[in-house]
Parts: sequence; structure tokens; C-alpha cells
Amino acid sequence: MCGIVGYLGYRQAAEVCMEGLLRLEYRGYDSFGIATVSPEIAVFKETGKISAAKDAVHLKGTCGIGHTRWATHGVPSRTNAHPFTDCTGKIAVVHNGIIENYAALKRDLEKRGHTFVSETDTEVIPHLIEEKYTGNLREAVSKILPLLEGAYAILVIAEGTEEIVAARKGSPLVLGVGDREYVFASDGLPILDYTRKVIYLEDGDLAEVTPAGYTIYQGKKPVERKVATLEWDAADVRKGGFAHYMLKEMYEQPEVFSNTINSITENAAALCRIREARSVTVVACGTSANASTVFAYLMESVCGIPTRVVLASEFKYFPTPKNDVVIAVSQSGETADTISALKIAKERGAKTFCVTNVLGSSLTRIAETTLYTRAGPEVSVAATKSFTAQVAAFMEIVNIISGGMLKKAVAEIQRYLPEALDCDVESAVELVKDASTLLYVGRGLSYPISMEGALKMKEISYIHAEGYAAGELKHGPFALLSKETPVVAVCLPGSTYPVMMSNLKEIKARSAPEVVIGCVGDIDAEEIADVFIPLPKVSETAGVILASVVLQMLAYKTAVALGTDVDMPRNLAKSVTVE
Ligand code: M6R
Repeated sequence: MCGIVGYLGYRQAAEVCMEGLLRLEYRGYDSFGIATVSPEIAVFKETGKISAAKDAVHLKGTCGIGHTRWATHGVPSRTNAHPFTDCTGKIAVVHNGIIENYAALKRDLEKRGHTFVSETDTEVIPHLIEEKYTGNLREAVSKILPLLEGAYAILVIAEGTEEIVAARKGSPLVLGVGDREYVFASDGLPILDYTRKVIYLEDGDLAEVTPAGYTIYQGKKPVERKVATLEWDAADVRKGGFAHYMLKEMYEQPEVFSNTINSITENAAALCRIREARSVTVVACGTSANASTVFAYLMESVCGIPTRVVLASEFKYFPTPKNDVVIAVSQSGETADTISALKIAKERGAKTFCVTNVLGSSLTRIAETTLYTRAGPEVSVAATKSFTAQVAAFMEIVNIISGGMLKKAVAEIQRYLPEALDCDVESAVELVKDASTLLYVGRGLSYPISMEGALKMKEISYIHAEGYAAGELKHGPFALLSKETPVVAVCLPGSTYPVMMSNLKEIKARSAPEVVIGCVGDIDAEEIADVFIPLPKVSETAGVILASVVLQMLAYKTAVALGTDVDMPRNLAKSVTVE
């Protein structure tokens, strides 16, 4: 969703902002813009891809702000793109979030003679500042903030000044503190090229940055904020010779899996409250919810602790048992549905945890305990290595709580993940790529893996795909089966195998072609499958995790065959910051 960047220092701000916006592209956007001070305010706005307009930007100045917009109020257009200026064109603003009371503010401003050009909520902000600005930008911004209802991260610049004033409430904002230069951004990625020293602004913070330094205020009072170090490396956000970020990120999974296991092991002491819980509720969305469902299966079967997964957007409709442990799971730590669910859980008195990949993200400020996955930056909209990292975190949590019951499975995954990545999915791609509907099935742990496989396929190839518990097909979805409806099944030796084989036969009897991910040497599964993808002989728990990597590869190669925009699929955003 929207992303913001600001620069003040000795470089050309427009160039830094454009580079920064490219780093934020992964969040999803439809238009973008930048403004610089030199000493007048100059603005450039465009729709479409940033890379296509890069050479058209000729703004001068060493102080500037930029924005990628994901339309909420008003269609994607140059007019609705940020930055917005006031009536005089002397104040420019970029904004992430939603100003809920903008309609009333706009009516009042219009009555007082202000002219608006866009349909956005954001445009009220520069006009409100205009009314209060008499030469001190910080003071003017601080006076209008109490008028804004909703969520915001804003950056403001004004003609003839060399400063950026920033404010945050509910939307993320990071300040990079370099050597004689400062970079604001929605997350750490645009900052990495300049410095690794960052301050995660808190809700209610107002920051003033000038060539002389930065000051952060809460109300009128200056406050100290901890300077943290970004753990990620600038090289992590480059494609490094891969055709797509998604492919690069998939190949990082063996390392990510081990890094995350270590991260949880180092935090073992924090797990006692989960171990002592009467029940656990996990809240998450999308891929994170699928990883959480793997956790629920493991917690129930290995630790005997009742664990349920509630989609974060539905959590408010579920009462939380008293003293329950609630774990919010989110790669970005900025997903609005998940943040809101965790806040509700906290209000209801739950013990709160979060599992996230982003240091200093919003969830980490709400949860009492944070467990970090160590996946590194994930740029592709389709989550791959962050899923594997979440599964690693969950496996290690269960392993620690159960006194080592998953040790063997963890070791098998570490050993065989590279082999799974090298699997041959070409024949499977041929079988599925022209279908209009695909069904993914599995039982037990393979069920959430099937849901994740289907999610990956639909989001990047645009083929309709649904994941089902294999036993559910006969309760309705069987009606869809025909030779035009391929079924992708995870069928591994172990507790689910015999009945899974029966399900495969039932599916075959209804003419649906089958792609089966099974265990090497399984002649029965190979015989029934139209395409058989063998995995190394490992335990069932390890096998399903290896299968998830094969399903990622199947989705990736199908999307490539169909020519879709793999890293930035249509209509989607990496970081979903609206409910
Ligand atoms: O950042 P989060 O893990 O909270 O994101 C939740 C979902 O939006 C996300 O997992 C989404 O489903 C994936 N990008 C799909 O690949």
C-alpha cells in the first residue's frame, strides 16, 4: 500500500526519493510523486510504473519528499497522486493512512476559501497547515494534528526552508540517521543505502529534521528515542541475478529456516507463558494464517495445548477466553487487520505475543513479547521465505515446549530443503497452466500446506485455486471434478497416507487429472498420479514442509509460463495497512 520517503542532506533529494520509492514498489501502488524545495516547492506526479518515469524527473534541491499511492479515496490519477500542496503552493505534504474526518474538514476549509484539486482525504492537510503557518513549520504542523482523525504518517516541507517535519499516528514511519543526511521512510528498505541507524517513530511523535540535526517531540516536549540498527543488508533487496525476487527469496529458504530456528532458540525463555497456557489463539491473515494453521496442528498433536487460528479480520467477533495467550503472526508487522485483532486481545486481558519478520514494526509495540523470524527483507508480494520462516519459528516453539519432539523433523528439513528446491515441476506446470480451476488437497499437516499452495497459485498465476482438506471434497467440491479440473495432492507416507490414497482413487474415478507430491519410491502413488513429484524419504512432518516449497515452485513456474507480473501481481499490495 502507500509508501513514503523523505530526504534531507547533501545529495539530490529527487534522486534519493525516486530510488526510495523503487524500494517501496513492492508494497503495491498505482501512482507516485515527489516534491523538493529549491527554494520554491516543485512537484512531479505520475501514474504507472516508477521506472518508466525515472528520466522525466528534474527536480532540484537537497530536501524532498516522495510517495507511492495505492488508491483509496479517488481513482488512480496524476491529480490524486501525492504530494499535495496548499492554495499558495508553498507547503507540500505526503501522507500514508486515512483521514477519517476529511469530508467535514474539507467542507469547512472550502467555506473559508480554500480550493481543492483532488478527491483525496490527504489534501486537507496542506490547507490546514497553510492556515497556521507563520514561518515555523513544526509549530504549524503540531497545531493541526489534533484536528485529524484516523491514521497517518506524514512528511511536510515548505518553501524557503530546509527542513522536513514528520508526524506519525497509526501508520509506520522510520527515520534513518546518516552522516549529515536523514532519510524518512515507511520501512527500512529505502534507508539501507545511506545508513543502518534508524529510529522507529512512535504514535504521537512529531519529528523535525534540519541540517543541524533532528528533534523528536511528543506534544511540545522533546523526547529521546532509541537508535536501532537495521539488521538487513542493501544486497538483500537486490535481485542478485535472479529473474524475479520471488525466485531469489525461495532459494534463500534453507538459510532462513536455520536462522529462524536459532532466533527462537535464543528466545526460549519467552516461551514459558505459551507452555503454561490453557489455550492459545493465533490471529493472522493470508499466508501467515496458513503457517499458523500448521502451528495449531503441531501444538494440538505434539504438545496437547488447544490452539485455534482465527483470521485476524474476524477476531473481533470471537470472544477470547480469559487469560488466553493470543499470538499475532505477520511478516510485515503492519497488517491492519492483525494489528487491530491484537489490540482487541490486549484490551480483553490476553497475554500477547507477536511473530514477525520486521524489527520495530507496529505489532512489536503492541505485543508484550516479540518473536522474530529471520527471513530478511521479502520484496515479492507472494510470501515464500517468510512462510517458511514462520513455520520454522512454530516448529521450534513446539520443539522447545515438547522437550525436543520435533528435533528430527527440523534436522530433516534443514538437510533436504535444497533438494526440494531443485524439484522438477515442468510436467505439472503443463498439466495445470491452462486450467481455469485447480483444487489442492491434503490431510493433517498437508491441509494448511495445500491451502498455502492454492493461495500462491491464485495470486501470481490468476488461476482460480482452492485448498481443501482431502476428506471435504466429497461434501461438495466433487461436483467440480472433471478432466478439466486438475487436483494437486500432497500424499506422504505416515498417518494420513492410507485414507489419502483412497481419496486419490475417488478423485481419479471422477476423471480429474492428478499432480501428486509424494515420497520417492512410492509406487502406488506414482501409479495413480498423472504427474508424480517425488520428495526425499523423510518423516511426514518434514515432508509436508518440503512439499510447500514444491508448491511454491509450481506456482512460480506456472505464472512465468503464463507471463504474469510475478513479483507484483495485479490488485495486490505487500503490506495491507487498511482493514
Ligand atoms: O505481512 P503479513 O504476514 O501480515 O501479511 C498477511 C497477508 O497479507 C500475506 O501473508 C499475503 O497473504 C501474502 N503476501 C500472500 O502471498
